[in-house]
Amino acid sequence: MRFFTAGESHGPGLSVIIEGVPAGLQLQAEDIDLWLARRQGGYGRGARMQIEKDKVEILAGLRDGITLGSPLAFYLPNREWDNWKEIMSPHPGAKAERVVTRPRPGHADLPGAIKYRHRDIRNVLERASARETAARVVAGAVAWRLLKELGVEVLAHVLRIGPVAVARELSLEEIRRAWESPVYCACPVKSQDMVEAIQQAKEKGDTLGGVVEVRVSGLVPGLGSYVHWDRRLDGRLAQAVMSVPAVKGVEVGEGFKLAALMGSQAHDAIYYKKGRGFHRATNRAGGLEGGVTNGEELVVRAALKPIPTLRQPLPTVDLFTKEPVEATVERSDVCAVPAGAVVVALMVAWVLAQAYLEKLGGDHMEEIGERLQAYRDYLASL
Ligand SMILES: Cc1cc2nc3c(=O)[nH]c(=O)nc-3n(C[C@H](O)[C@H](O)[C@H](O)COP(=O)(O)O)c2cc1C
Repeated sequence: MRFFTAGESHGPGLSVIIEGVPAGLQLQAEDIDLWLARRQGGYGRGARMQIEKDKVEILAGLRDGITLGSPLAFYLPNREWDNWKEIMSPHPGAKAERVVTRPRPGHADLPGAIKYRHRDIRNVLERASARETAARVVAGAVAWRLLKELGVEVLAHVLRIGPVAVARELSLEEIRRAWESPVYCACPVKSQDMVEAIQQAKEKGDTLGGVVEVRVSGLVPGLGSYVHWDRRLDGRLAQAVMSVPAVKGVEVGEGFKLAALMGSQAHDAIYYKKGRGFHRATNRAGGLEGGVTNGEELVVRAALKPIPTLRQPLPTVDLFTKEPVEATVERSDVCAVPAGAVVVALMVAWVLAQAYLEKLGGDHMEEIGERLQAYRDYLASL
């Protein structure tokens, strides 16, 4: 499976093409809209989220709510296009208004303008903007739908926003309900503290980052491989998660904490019981050993930096005059960590769906179901 996206933040809309989705997968616009709504939710999002109620349009690859095995094509209109169509017109004669020449630190603005020789930084920020993650959510939601069919559950929640962190163990039930929290945090007490931290940051014209966690259960052992660097599932997950804008750190299982432990404390002893098979009492490895799933829950965490567009902007330098100025202020979120949890979860789902198809092959969901059952039978025989 692979996907491509195209579209500028203030262009007509975003396009997504997904290839390699098997035939026979039940899929509806609501499956995707659910995740689009979650991406737009979360306390701390800016005014744009009120304007942009994303609803996906399905253009190809689906008939009667079932995938055909042909490429899937989707379109997500940008609701603000009417206000931008003269400035963002694809045709010669586009209005040279709202030109951006003051690069924002922490964005692709300066390196992007240097690289592509743009004289208006808008040509960079329109594509580098996290609006692009809405298109990824479309692809990721299809992967999530496929995984659901294979008995895999993907959960995500927010562990930290700025100084407020969840320190206690959370039950699976609590994590399942995290979407009900205004910041997608599974702990109601910390959830409230996080909302307050965002409010305070907003009053100061500042922004906040945080940490999100993805937990995936129901995975079979044996996804990914240790045989080549680019087939290791840990590496593939890290790439996919790190590619989400604002993500600056990725860890699997206990991740960075393991560095401080003795080997005897860091690994998960192996046990065997008839009927249950191989299993562990701990899961510090986060479900992956040697780049291969080991049948335990997959745990991936990502650290997001605070949003770089600030209402009280940082110093920068004008691209042309080279004079010191304040960075451009585009309309912006105060905290995108809850939305980031959605995007990170779906990037994880995407990589896992790919890994399943590599493991099982098959062109129709029935065929994949049969192969999964055969593999489960083999696992049960161990
Ligand atoms: C869902 C989501 C929403 C975001 N919204 C904003 C935003 O409103 N304003 C902003 O300056 N950055 C926002 N960001 C972060 C920037 O897109 C990101 O920091 C920037 O593109 C630079 O990329 P990098 O941080 O990965 O280096 C958002 C990120 C995500 C994941």
